Amino acid sequence: MNILVTGGAGFVGSNICIYLKEYYSNAHIIAFDNLHRRGSELNLKRLKEKDITFIHGDIRNPTDFLQIPPCDWVIECSAEPSVLAGFHSSPYYLVQSNLTGAINCLDWAKENKSSFIFLSTSRVYPYSIINSLPYLETETRFTPEYEKINIPGFSEKGISEEFPLKGPRTLYGATKLSAEIVALEYAEMYDIPVVINRCGIIAGPWQMGKVDQGVVTLWLANHISGKPIEYIGFGGQGKQVRDLLDIEDLCRLIVWQMGNISSINKEVFNVGGGVKRSFSLNELTSLSHQITGRVVPIRYNPDTRPGDVKYYITDTSKIESISAWKPEISLIQTLNKIACWLFDNSERLKGIVL
Ligand SMILES: NC(=O)c1ccc[n+]([C@@H]2O[C@H](COP(=O)([O-])OP(=O)(O)OC[C@H]3O[C@@H](n4cnc5c(N)ncnc54)[C@H](O)[C@@H]3O)[C@@H](O)[C@H]2O)c1
Repeated sequence: MNILVTGGAGFVGSNICIYLKEYYSNAHIIAFDNLHRRGSELNLKRLKEKDITFIHGDIRNPTDFLQIPPCDWVIECSAEPSVLAGFHSSPYYLVQSNLTGAINCLDWAKENKSSFIFLSTSRVYPYSIINSLPYLETETRFTPEYEKINIPGFSEKGISEEFPLKGPRTLYGATKLSAEIVALEYAEMYDIPVVINRCGIIAGPWQMGKVDQGVVTLWLANHISGKPIEYIGFGGQGKQVRDLLDIEDLCRLIVWQMGNISSINKEVFNVGGGVKRSFSLNELTSLSHQITGRVVPIRYNPDTRPGDVKYYITDTSKIESISAWKPEISLIQTLNKIACWLFDNSERLKGIVL
């Protein structure tokens, strides 16, 4: 079996490559990446050690795909993953990579009759709707006033695939949703199996966290290196809520999807850690303090960044109803794994994460 992982040197891609190699030891796994993300180059050694082929290439350039042998699978993990991309900069790279590039990947999959798994995002759901819901403010987080909310796909379990899609969602969310729509058309017109995973925050070792992406790593890294953290937006108290899925739980899901592709062809799944793995920034600070034993200065910035959401928790009922998969790694276990990775690799992560 040949498996192509685009964005294979990134956080999600490199971990998927390594997990798949351990699971399918005879598979030929190819990581294809243009190393655009600072720190992705550190993953090349990990890939090489596991006998994973690295091909330097750019999904924006169809000719770069000529270097790749035919593959049974394409797992599309390459992207500009920052939700802030395009706000104070040109949207060109974002649109070219996340939309045109994703279509190039689909086209290559069509030519090679490969099955296609697409890493999409929870940010396809409009921030305008999420932020307009009524919330109570507890000491550490925003909590929806469920009894006052009557929107499809919104419940105590979180946000499901039924949540409305009409409204602004950032160009990041828009390029991902557009790529999803094209992917489903490719499945229909060209008969290639396609599965879409709309992921909330994914976290774990080897995520090169920065201010605009990878908040969990950023928080722990700043605690370890003594740099300040900043609560940005929604009043500046760090009460915005997210859930977290450990990268290993995601990899386990990908393996299940590969084994069950015919029964889930053309399906879209919300994938995340759910209520049990939810946290606010404020709570993440306390947990980071507990884990690292360090306290860092906190900056309070009430101004909300464009496109930001007050609350997102994934309702994973759909995937859990058709599979035995559910997240297994707890929030605290993931945070501990990241902290150990940061301590163990502090020298090489200096200037990138630390
Ligand atoms: N990490 C998360 O919390 C999260 C959440 C939801 C969705 N996702 C999605 O998962 C996927 C992987 O995200 P990640 O966290 O690993 O990001 P990442 O930045 O760590 O990895 C993306 C990789 O893609 C590469 N890349 C970027 N542009 C490219 C191009 N034009 N050609 C080839 N390679 C290119 C980068 O160099 C990088 O190595 C993305 O599609 C992202 O939208 C991630």
